[in-house]
Amino acid sequence: MESLEMGTGFSADIFDSQHYIEINEARWDAAERVVEALSAGGELSTCYDVGCGPGWFAEKLVGLGIDVTGIEARSELVDKARKRVPGATFVQCDLDVPLLSRHLSAADFVFCFGLLYHLENPFRAIRNLYQLTRHYCLVESIMIPGDSPQYCLVQESSNVNQGMTHCALIPSLAAMTKMLYAAGFSHVYRCRLPVEHPDFVETDVVYQRRSILLAAHGRVELEFLEQLAVPQAPKYSFLKNVC
Ligand SMILES: C[S@@+](CC[C@H](N)C(=O)[O-])C[C@H]1O[C@@H](n2cnc3c(N)ncnc32)[C@H](O)[C@@H]1O
Repeated sequence: MESLEMGTGFSADIFDSQHYIEINEARWDAAERVVEALSAGGELSTCYDVGCGPGWFAEKLVGLGIDVTGIEARSELVDKARKRVPGATFVQCDLDVPLLSRHLSAADFVFCFGLLYHLENPFRAIRNLYQLTRHYCLVESIMIPGDSPQYCLVQESSNVNQGMTHCALIPSLAAMTKMLYAAGFSHVYRCRLPVEHPDFVETDVVYQRRSILLAAHGRVELEFLEQLAVPQAPKYSFLKNVC
């Protein structure tokens, strides 16, 4: 297996580990169904794969006949993706900062798996995703449990599959949904297709860690999509519980 050291003591080979391949295949089984269903509307000829790593999902999307541009902050991973997926275009770009100066026009579809829980500024990143999206934005993320729109600040490991600063704000489902609506998407859905991986399953002892959401510029009617209401985000109450 080729190796790519990146000055952190860790290698990009992590993207080829059995753990990665298993979760990628499980996520792709569901994602492919969503993409094919959306393609039936004839509106998916161009796509950004944001936080694409070495291009595993980009290659799958190219296989569906889509014109794919991968966006990735780490130049070493951009190089690796270019070699692995010659049918796609890859650009180095940090999604955690404003994209205003970048000349990236909107694509029909934005695919963003495994990125938003690695960022210092997930709201900024979601505004960037909105800017890049002509019709649909399919997001997969870890989200912390709880009903309120909140975040958890996490110190990440120094591995190359993490964020650029290794300090991340992980949102709850309500926070993620609120940000997608606040960024401008008119409809946000939760994908109810089963994903055959423990991270997508809630049990008696663990909460579901990951979910797939679809944000869109308009109504989407697919039987496996559950529309999410705009969450309330009231001012924080500083009242103590006094009887
Ligand atoms: C957990 S990996 C996910 C890779 C792939 N999308 C997947 O789901 O398997 C996160 C990827 O996002 C990239 N990344 C981290 N921070 C980023 C940022 N601010 N902008 C763009 N890409 C970033 C990382 O380098 C890494 O390739």
